[in-house]
Amino acid sequence: MKKVFKKLLAITLVAMITISAVGCGKEENALTKIKDAGKIVVGTSPDYPPFEFLISEDGKSKIVGADIDLAQKIADKIGVKLEIKSMDFDSLLPALQSGKVDMVITGMTPDETRKKAVDFSDIYFKGVNGVLVKEENVDKIKSEDDLKKVNLGVQKGSTQETYVKDKLKIEKYKALKAVPNLVMDLKSGKIDAIVLNDKVAKINEGKYDNVKLVKDLKLTGGGDEEAMAIAVKKGDNKELLKLMNEEIKELQSSGEYDKILSNAVEEVSKAKQ
Ligand code: ARG
Repeated sequence: MKKVFKKLLAITLVAMITISAVGCGKEENALTKIKDAGKIVVGTSPDYPPFEFLISEDGKSKIVGADIDLAQKIADKIGVKLEIKSMDFDSLLPALQSGKVDMVITGMTPDETRKKAVDFSDIYFKGVNGVLVKEENVDKIKSEDDLKKVNLGVQKGSTQETYVKDKLKIEKYKALKAVPNLVMDLKSGKIDAIVLNDKVAKINEGKYDNVKLVKDLKLTGGGDEEAMAIAVKKGDNKELLKLMNEEIKELQSSGEYDKILSNAVEEVSKAKQ
């Protein structure tokens, strides 16, 4: 009897240890995983200058921009290398959820739908949206209502798409994977206007002769604001997020983030020459 009891106790103990070990394994600490790998992988859609864009260096294309500098600062703070993965904007969150990337930095707005799927850092930049049109149409768009009368273009899966669909209640619009494709369609007259970040719009205005950012246009209901934060996979990410938020705070209070951003704007204009 005693022997049987001892055996049972042993089996129970082994089972308990196994269960708790499996339990721990499921909740892998995101920061430990990154440290063990010696690198942090960032996913980005490099079509949004000055935040992320491509330049050519020694005949090769390179991803640069304010978001990439921010990613590098975070990698440095953790003490690991930074690896950048370029993807279409609408593939980034699925890649984060499946563990292909450790974080997404791509001018992403932490909206309520996304917050259900992933976690976000504090906001590192608060921008506004603007409307880019062909020069000859610049006087045709004076209000949000005017937007309903033209062929609109937005980036697929963006908060600008949500604004056009849910706030303006426009059913027919063009959603493309990358911003440069939208600008090409604008230039060729396939679309009349693009809703996007106003800094990105200004850069495109400077890049092409016949596209213009509409001035003094009041957008509402999420159309006016474009906050940006870093996305990470849900799970045991508290330490990783804490570290990211510390870095964001430091960069902001020291004024370094503003410098990063203005350097990126300068880099765009250099790349153009
Ligand atoms: N802020 C918008 C969003 O989160 C647009 C971001 C676009 N970013 C980019 N790299 N193209 O949906």
